[in-house]
Amino acid sequence: MDKLVIRGGNPLLGTVRISGAKNAALPAMAAALLTEEPVILENIPHVRDIETTRKLLSAMGAEVELGYGRAKNRTTICCKNLSSPEASYELVKTMRASTLVLGPLVARCGRARVSLPGGCAIGARPIDLHIKGLERLGAKIDQQHGYVEASAERLKGAEIVFDKITVTGTEDLLMAAALADGETVMQNCAREPEVADLADLLNKMGAKIEGAGTATIRIKGVPKLKGAKHRIIPDRIEAATFILAGALTDGDLNISGCEPKHLGALLQKLEEVGVKTKSTRDSVRVEGSSALKAADVNTEEYPGFPTDVQAQYMALATQAEGTSIITENIFENRFMHALEMVRMGANIKIEGRRAVVRGKSQLGGAAVLASDLRASASLVLAALVAEGETIIDRVYHIDRGYENIEEKLRGVGAQIRRIGEILPKKR
Ligand code: EPZ
Repeated sequence: MDKLVIRGGNPLLGTVRISGAKNAALPAMAAALLTEEPVILENIPHVRDIETTRKLLSAMGAEVELGYGRAKNRTTICCKNLSSPEASYELVKTMRASTLVLGPLVARCGRARVSLPGGCAIGARPIDLHIKGLERLGAKIDQQHGYVEASAERLKGAEIVFDKITVTGTEDLLMAAALADGETVMQNCAREPEVADLADLLNKMGAKIEGAGTATIRIKGVPKLKGAKHRIIPDRIEAATFILAGALTDGDLNISGCEPKHLGALLQKLEEVGVKTKSTRDSVRVEGSSALKAADVNTEEYPGFPTDVQAQYMALATQAEGTSIITENIFENRFMHALEMVRMGANIKIEGRRAVVRGKSQLGGAAVLASDLRASASLVLAALVAEGETIIDRVYHIDRGYENIEEKLRGVGAQIRRIGEILPKKR
């Protein structure tokens, strides 16, 4: 199992380039199931969840070419001959976003058998809203032996109001409704940029979708969709992670190839904390400050402060003078990183959905454990300012969503290396 070893104390200086958004690439790859023609996606990040999705689609009979480097992070997916519309437990248990194939499979093949995702470190994360929406579209749903079996001659357009705002629930049903007979109106939808990016791709494929990115989305079903070419949007969570790394290390870091308009909540919060940032059309420059001020954060659905940036913000809060109260409103168990930071010397008290962070604490290097994707990113940030060396175990979590994180950080001055990787050949 790989580990990351980080020696803290270096300010991050220079430019780091942001990769494509994992959470836009996953639904986009699932959307290829909706057509017999090839779908070409560019700016795909080279991360573990993409590889898992490649395996998932290939197991169904899809042809998935995945190229990196000179192949410009491009994937070509052709789902002409789907042999088995199934997503097995072996794959779904490693990546719950596999449930994104449910809607497309029912819409394209008339049936789907997808493993229920089961538990997750950050919360129960059921998919009841995905299922309810499919039933509204006329699918017959059976749940047994840990699988959801869905079937429908042809889905029918309907009115859907989500009981709760769900990102992949909105995406799953957007894809299902694209091939339904008649119009679907979905309300209380997720407004995340990844939803709008998926709708862009679907419309390029011939779908008729309006309102994606707002709370109400209208979809006029079409009988068939065609292939398309699409470039995935930049990863706003990776960008937020590096912006916080620049702020935390009192650095001067330029985050290029990002979408500042997707980062409004974080950039406004950083102003409150006393961190100066300057944005252009596709970059954010952050100049750290040694006098960080405490500021409270409430995680909310987009455009509010993202839950996927909560852990990384907590690392910053340990370095701010005063008390920051961080309230996690989206998931019920998303503070596991806090306990690891306390082991590094942070002063954090967990009270239900609130974490009370008192700073500024001098963090010290320690052996710590990553528990989920964003928790592991927050431990990297804490390690960048800790005195001495931190060893982060189970970094496969971080590899799920961050492309070449150690190269990117080393490129702007961090002292970081991965151990457990293949040793260089003997001379
Ligand atoms: C997406 O997960 C993201 N994943 C998550 O990012 C992100 O944390 C989350 O949205 C919230 O922004 C992808 O896009 C692949 P939800 P998703 O459905 O869609 C409850 C990362 O770090 N809910 O919006 O699974 C759910 O339990 C990952 O990249 C139901 O109750 O999240 C949660 O409390 C982690 N029933 C809330 O809604 C349902 O049917 C929001 O979940 C669906 C969700």
